[in-house]
Amino acid sequence: MVNMQAPNTSLFLQGNFAPWREEGDFERLPVRGCLPRELRGTYYRNGPNPAFDPIGRYHWFDGDGMVHAVRIADGEASYRNRWVRSKGLLEEFRAGRALYFGLMELSRGEGRYKNTGNTNVLFHGSRFFALMEAALPTELDPVTLDTLGEYDFAGKLCGPMTAHPKIDPRTGELLFFGYSAVPPFLTFYRADADGRLVSAEPIPGGMPAMVHDFAITEHFAVFFVCPLLLRLENIGSDRPVFSWEAEQGMLWGVLPRNATGDQIRWFASDPCFIFHAMNAYENGRAVVVDAVRYPFMELEQLEEKAAEFAKNRSALWRFTLELESGSVHGEERAAVFCEFPRVDERWIGQPYRYGFMVSRGSESRGAEIMPKFSALAKYDGKEGTIEVRDFGSHIGVGEAVFVPSGDSLSEGQGYLLTLVYDQRRNTSELHVLSAENFLEDPIAVVELPHRIPYGFHGAWVPGV
Ligand SMILES: [Fe+2]
Repeated sequence: MVNMQAPNTSLFLQGNFAPWREEGDFERLPVRGCLPRELRGTYYRNGPNPAFDPIGRYHWFDGDGMVHAVRIADGEASYRNRWVRSKGLLEEFRAGRALYFGLMELSRGEGRYKNTGNTNVLFHGSRFFALMEAALPTELDPVTLDTLGEYDFAGKLCGPMTAHPKIDPRTGELLFFGYSAVPPFLTFYRADADGRLVSAEPIPGGMPAMVHDFAITEHFAVFFVCPLLLRLENIGSDRPVFSWEAEQGMLWGVLPRNATGDQIRWFASDPCFIFHAMNAYENGRAVVVDAVRYPFMELEQLEEKAAEFAKNRSALWRFTLELESGSVHGEERAAVFCEFPRVDERWIGQPYRYGFMVSRGSESRGAEIMPKFSALAKYDGKEGTIEVRDFGSHIGVGEAVFVPSGDSLSEGQGYLLTLVYDQRRNTSELHVLSAENFLEDPIAVVELPHRIPYGFHGAWVPGV
């Protein structure tokens, strides 16, 4: 029954969005240049990789998670990749075909969906996880990448966990939230440095929004609730379940980190959409959030709306939330098309200078629903400058992960690790760049054994 339909033509299944359906282990990969001896650990990158041809309409957010791991030690590199073997994926392996519908087909899924674990990875409290925002974290073995199962913090986590938790670099605490289409729309969680969940605070107010990320400062958790609303009542109707409702405006929630949820303060602003914050910090009686801002966001009917989407250009903005007056002021900081912002994570929650983002090169153009990022951008908040490293229009470049130099305590001194896909050769490489000398040739390039599909987020875990 479910297989009786035309082949899936989603743009998210074509080119380097198409899944790679082999798992493997490869030692002693070819390296151009020289891997620094102090780089000893594993770079992980998660992303959607449907094991079976999807049933129904497919969205990039739907695919089964596949974790790619490049381990570096003694100047050598190895590679391993494994699917996140969710309960749903194991069912599908047994059936030999896809059984679950994705985000665009919620009305056909009858409430069943997979915890794909496809969005991010997290290493905290000696455990390693694959994350997806609508479900519990999935624990993996950090070396073998074997799936150990869903993890609920000893029974204390009863709802979903964002794919963008924050580790406070000063305390080692893990701070995160979960969102829901029914009240409480947000729940804020804190785990101590050892990974014990110590608080779960339901937050009153807000909206039934899709909330992908949040930010922390020294004293606050900051939520950006954009009007991309989850309208479960629209399931089965012609109206979108993920509904852009600009007229609802936008809400910013500021919660003291150690407070109860009812101490949240909500600030209203004009609507926009934010997937990712770059960083946040306190400045006197203000909270400052730097984030990649879109004028709007839609998740459905993207191909029909391609022309409209071509004008939906992201940019780096600074939002200042005045705690006394309750006002929110937003200003553009860098007019560069950007996404996947990352910082030197030793500066999370604090005044900082540098950020790194994917961007589009000068040759990129067109009305793709999902632009190919062919450049990296380095933001210098002190100088107010942006440097753009253009890889060329045949290249697709992924999120850059910052790795500090072992002997440096200065912000931004270290390396950037990023996956680079070459469309002409259909190959992928891991580039190791100097974060300081951002425009120079790579320090080292690891040639990977096969292409790695475009994905979402990654992390460097030292010593693993
Ligand atoms: Fe994300």
